[in-house]
Amino acid sequence: MQDFIQNAINEIRETVGDKKVICALSGGVDSSVVAVLIHEAIGDQLTCIFVDHGLLRKGEVQSVMKTFREGFDINVIQVDAKDRFLSKLAGVTDPEEKRKIIGNEFIYVFEEEANKLQDIEFLAQGTIYADVVESGANNAKLVKSHHNVGGLPERMNLKLIEPLKTLYKDQVREVGKGLGLPDEIVMRQPFPGPGLGVRVIGEITEKRLEIVRESDAILREEIKEANLDREIWQYFTVLTNIRSVGMTDSARTYDYTVGIRAIHSTDGMTADWARIPYDVLEKISKRIVTEVPHVNRIVYDITTKPPATIEWE
Ligand code: XMP
Repeated sequence: MQDFIQNAINEIRETVGDKKVICALSGGVDSSVVAVLIHEAIGDQLTCIFVDHGLLRKGEVQSVMKTFREGFDINVIQVDAKDRFLSKLAGVTDPEEKRKIIGNEFIYVFEEEANKLQDIEFLAQGTIYADVVESGANNAKLVKSHHNVGGLPERMNLKLIEPLKTLYKDQVREVGKGLGLPDEIVMRQPFPGPGLGVRVIGEITEKRLEIVRESDAILREEIKEANLDREIWQYFTVLTNIRSVGMTDSARTYDYTVGIRAIHSTDGMTADWARIPYDVLEKISKRIVTEVPHVNRIVYDITTKPPATIEWE
C-alpha cells in the first residue's frame, strides 16, 4: 500500500502540475481517501466542496469538517444548502422523484460553488474498481436512480482524476489507513448519496427528518455499545408513513412507526437481515420510544434482499 500511495502521489503531481483541482467531499470512504491522497500530493492546489443538503446524520457535518479541516488542514468549502434542498423537496412523496431532485440539486450547488473558484482544471472523483465494472450493469442502478455526479466533468469542462480506479473497497480502506484517516471514516458503513431523504418515507420535512436523525443516532450508539458495529454491514432507522394508536401515561397517542434495518452483505447487491440479540433490540426500542418525540411503535425489518432492497426507497 505504501508503494501504491507513493506512485499515486507521483502520478497526481505529474498530471496536475501547478494547476488546481476540486473534489466533492461527502465524508464517505472513497471521497475521503481521494481528498487526503490528492492533498498529500499537491496541498493547497486542492479545494474540496462539502455540500450539506440537510439530509445527513446527527453530528455528521461537524465530524467531517473537523476531520478534514482540523485533522488534515485541507481547504474545504462547506456549503449550507439545507433550505434549498428542503424547499425543492416540499410536498414530494415519490421515491424516484425525491432521488432525482436531490441528485440534480447536488450537481447545481456543486457547480455554482466550483464556478466561484478561479483556474480549476481538474475534478477528482472517488471512483473505485467496482464502479468501473458495474457501471451501467449494476442491478441497484436499474432499480433506483443512484446519486451520481458522473456528468459533471463534461458539464464543467474539467479533466477527471480518479486515483482509486484500480482498487477494491478493502484496498481503498487500506490506503485510507496508510494515509492516517481515522477508523471512523475508513471503516464507515455505506451511506446513500440522497442520505436521510430515502429514509423518510413520504414527504421530507424538518420535523420528520429530526425523528429519523434522532432514532438513527440511538441505534448507532446501541449497536456500538453491544460491539456489533464491525459485524453488521449496514444499520439505520427509517421513518415510515404509518401512524398508529398507542398510549403514554394512560393517554391515547396517535404517532409514527419507526423501522429498524440492519443487514449483512458483502457488496450491497444481496443482503440478509442481522440477527440482533433480543435484549439489544429491546434497549433500542425502549430508548427510541422514550427519547424521540412522536414515535410510539418500533418494527424490525426481517426481509432479505431480494425481494426487498436495503434502503426502503
Ligand atoms: P439498495 O437500497 O439498492 O442499496 O439495496 C444498496 C446499497 O447502496 C446504497 N445506496 C446508495 N449509495 N447512492 C449511493 O452511493 C445512492 O443513491 C444509493 N442508494 C442506495 C445503500 O445504502 C446500500 O448500501
